[in-house]
Amino acid sequence: MRPTLAEAEGCGKVSKIPAIHPRALGPFHLRLSHYLFPMFSLAGKTALVTGAGSGIGAAIAETFAQAGALVIVADVNAAGGNETVETIRRLGGQAVFAPLNVTDEAGCVSLAEQVHGQHGPLDVLVNNAGVGHVGTLLTTSGSDFDRLYAINVRGTFNVTKVFLPSMLARGRGSIINLSSTAGLEGLKDRLAYGVTKHAITGFTRCLALDHATSGVRVNCLCPGRVETPFVKARLAEYPDPKAAYQEMCGTQANGRMGQPKEIAAAALYLASDESSFVTGSALSIDGGWTAGMF
Ligand SMILES: NC(=O)c1ccc[n+]([C@@H]2O[C@H](COP(=O)([O-])OP(=O)(O)OC[C@H]3O[C@@H](n4cnc5c(N)ncnc54)[C@H](O)[C@@H]3O)[C@@H](O)[C@H]2O)c1
Repeated sequence: MRPTLAEAEGCGKVSKIPAIHPRALGPFHLRLSHYLFPMFSLAGKTALVTGAGSGIGAAIAETFAQAGALVIVADVNAAGGNETVETIRRLGGQAVFAPLNVTDEAGCVSLAEQVHGQHGPLDVLVNNAGVGHVGTLLTTSGSDFDRLYAINVRGTFNVTKVFLPSMLARGRGSIINLSSTAGLEGLKDRLAYGVTKHAITGFTRCLALDHATSGVRVNCLCPGRVETPFVKARLAEYPDPKAAYQEMCGTQANGRMGQPKEIAAAALYLASDESSFVTGSALSIDGGWTAGMF
């Protein structure tokens, strides 16, 4: 009898392993599943995630740790960052907290020195730290604009600047930037935010082209609305937050907001070797928001 494709590729053995209920294995079940089904594994890799103390960044850090990576949880908010580290360790993963304000160039340089000294070049860098703002040009001050630019754009530049050279020297690595639907299309009432996220999409594409043959890949994620403290803060800026929530759900074609883990799953793909042919891409994860008119 002809072997099935899975058997022909040597995967047949997996079906002969007796089924083990994941709970019976405690916190290590995820690592075992990565041993048995090694796609999207980050075993033996070091990843740094900025803004990993909350929302999407925390979900990315937790997902990477579950996939076997040592995760450096970098955040300006020590309480949030330490909470992410504790969650990861409770689940049997490896993580350390690194205090970091991405706008502080000297702080970025000193973090890179520590990371390189202890762990060597990063395998994965996620530039996730970011802040939002509601406003048109008429209601956005120059200082609002500067603050968003400093964190969202210059912060991504600062962190990438200190970690890219060692990745290039080693000839491999994956850089993942958090853009947004607002980095692909104009978004009403988000002037400063939209400008910074368009900049991140442009930064991603230019960086990817500059180093396309180096082995370092650069991509960005473009989420639609995702239920995190970030969105809750934006809702509080509206006179009627409940109506604003319904309106925000309605911008996705599927009628709901995303969950942080749905963005983390895409980050895991871009971090893993399974995305080895993907660079310079802006991946929409937006419930169909940018698919067309609906
Ligand atoms: N939530 C959404 O709907 C959504 C949609 C598209 C894109 N994004 C992007 O995803 C990223 C994460 O968003 P979130 O919703 O998880 O936000 P969040 O507010 O829940 O988390 C952001 C984290 O970044 C940290 N941070 C802020 N300024 C920092 C600085 N200067 N240095 C270091 N850390 C800093 C915060 O302390 C926080 O832990 C942002 O870049 C955001 O623009 C979010």
